[in-house]
Amino acid sequence: MSSKNFETQAIRTQTSKTSYKEHATPLFLTSSFTFDSAQEGEALFNGQADGHIYSRFSNPNVDEFVNKMCLLEQTESGVATATGMAAVFTTFAALLKSGDHIVASKAIFGNSLHILQSILPNYGISHTLVEIDDKEAWQKAVTPQTKLLFVESPSNPTLKIADLSFLGKLSKAHNLIFCIDNCFATPYLQQPVKFGANIIIHSATKYIDGQGRVLGGAILGDKKYVDLCYDFIRRTGASLSPFNAWVLSKSLETLAIRMDRHCENAEALYQFLAQHSDVEKIFYPFDKKSPQYDLAKKQQKLGGGLVGCQIKGGKERGTRFLNALKLHSLTANLGDTRSIATHPASTTHSKLSEAEQLDLGITAGFIRFSVGLEHIDDIIADVAQALENSK
Ligand SMILES: Cc1ncc(COP(=O)(O)O)c(C=O)c1O
Repeated sequence: MSSKNFETQAIRTQTSKTSYKEHATPLFLTSSFTFDSAQEGEALFNGQADGHIYSRFSNPNVDEFVNKMCLLEQTESGVATATGMAAVFTTFAALLKSGDHIVASKAIFGNSLHILQSILPNYGISHTLVEIDDKEAWQKAVTPQTKLLFVESPSNPTLKIADLSFLGKLSKAHNLIFCIDNCFATPYLQQPVKFGANIIIHSATKYIDGQGRVLGGAILGDKKYVDLCYDFIRRTGASLSPFNAWVLSKSLETLAIRMDRHCENAEALYQFLAQHSDVEKIFYPFDKKSPQYDLAKKQQKLGGGLVGCQIKGGKERGTRFLNALKLHSLTANLGDTRSIATHPASTTHSKLSEAEQLDLGITAGFIRFSVGLEHIDDIIADVAQALENSK
């Protein structure tokens, strides 16, 4: 049965049954696949026949995961990667060459920033960073060498929102590749293709797994670009393992229902923090007082599962607060069933100088919550007691 509904596609997109007629997809844990004859091997290698050869190239579990992701993101094509960072690096390495230029938002994940600032210059690829919401700066930064626009929305960790229609139009006008890391929103909340994105990147490690077990990534989008990324991965080796693909594809079956609850719990934690006297500033895409509220509402189905806040008392208070938490895990991941509290200044963005951190809105007292699926009363009670006990 073919359906256009997200939940049905996430559950019913499946590899064809084997002769055992299994209900759930089995795990194809094999490095390579056999040929019935020398001729078949030759035909598979020279592209005259379709089929699996070697799991660095393709595998039924990986295919199932990619097919689902393409349906959910409504893209023409896709390829899976070993991690989210492999997806980010592959996109740049496969689509750009020496002399090319990237315009990116300042508000991006620390390691993506590191690739732009410290790795790509070695290959002659330059970049300009702009404020995510400064339209004039985006326009001015485009040069004849610019090939790609890169953005995260909502961004890690301060949950800034990019105007996706504006970036879609800008990239079309200059014949650029508009690439977005959609990890925080997931395809359930936001489908960037609708706004003109050419490449959508995911760290599947986050909400797509959703249970903090495996690493994975995906590059989805226009076939002409994905083909280049596929070839780069097939030859250089950042392929997704069949086991991780199997876990991730099973996880996609519950993405919609999990995201609904993550978002409901995040909204409740936001309401609690927004009225708390020890919270100086709140970061949440659906914060009604934020100038980004209308844009976030236009682009996202719900507010997402992350909430950030700046606690009064700077780093010392922030440290006491983290140590006082009893339910929340202190870990660098996000998008898990378990609620997580992170201090970006000393972890994910610690390689940046204090001035660079402040430029990104990461103050010493900034805490990022990945709101989990525990009972909301327990989540709020934990944050409330930690605020009280860290005074
Ligand atoms: C927005 C974003 N993109 C990419 C990544 C990297 O993903 P991975 O850890 O799967 O390599 C992360 C990890 O935190 C992230 O938050």
